Amino acid sequence: MKRLTVPAIQRRKFEGKTQEPLVMLTAYTARQAQLLDPHCDMLLVGDSLGQVIYGLPSTLPVTLDMMIAHGAAVVRGSYHSVVLVDMPFGSYEASPQQAFASASRIMAETGAAGVKLEGGVAMAETIGFLTQRGIPVMAHIGLTPQAVNALGGYGARGKTQEEHAKILSDARAVAQAGAFSMVIEGVLEDIANAVTDSVDVPVIGIGASARCDGQVLVTEDMLGMFERTARFVKRYDNIAETISHAAQRYAADVRDRSFPGDDQVYRPKI
Ligand code: KIV
Ligand code: NA
Repeated sequence: MKRLTVPAIQRRKFEGKTQEPLVMLTAYTARQAQLLDPHCDMLLVGDSLGQVIYGLPSTLPVTLDMMIAHGAAVVRGSYHSVVLVDMPFGSYEASPQQAFASASRIMAETGAAGVKLEGGVAMAETIGFLTQRGIPVMAHIGLTPQAVNALGGYGARGKTQEEHAKILSDARAVAQAGAFSMVIEGVLEDIANAVTDSVDVPVIGIGASARCDGQVLVTEDMLGMFERTARFVKRYDNIAETISHAAQRYAADVRDRSFPGDDQVYRPKI
């Protein structure tokens, strides 16, 4: 199976009303990427790794070096999906030039197919700058977690007329600027539908609408790694329980000396 490409993803928007939604999940490690890759169209190395892997309180402290290390691992662990790497807070907002310096490092050092960055109208110029220089950009609008301090929390967006209009103009601006696709996160369903209908690139929803052109979730959320998650997460497993149970049995085996057993020790052949 050949790896999908960004233009192939973008074209999916035009494959008719019955088009199959695009499947995206986050991945942070090589082995996780290997397991998810055959089932996905896109793997996102999200800056959510700050909370999920590093125990940070938000995505704000995530660095470019962290994103590059995990991005390279996910590219090594996949051969089918388009791999996209989040640009971390502080690595792109100052200017198109700053964004290009950071994005070009991501592209060169990970082998990813493109980058994702948060922002709408305010990031349109930067999206155009990167796109025209050969770096595919996925935008991220609606609830943008890097702006948590300005937004005042992680609540759904679009509850006022002003917010509704802002999200629509953000969507149009990033599509116009050349974003090949966009994530729309944590917005009222009707806004996600309006955005999906009003731009000509695939709109990937998270806490958005079943009518989006695709869906994404944080893999660990979907696997049931955490006690508490956002309302929009559907849990497909309870990996937290699996891990706790395995650790509990291992600990009991060590403590009563039933591990290692005969099968797990080396003895001279006779
Ligand atoms: O960082 C992330 O995981 C994301 C997705 C939730 C879209 O940006
Ligand atoms: Na992110």
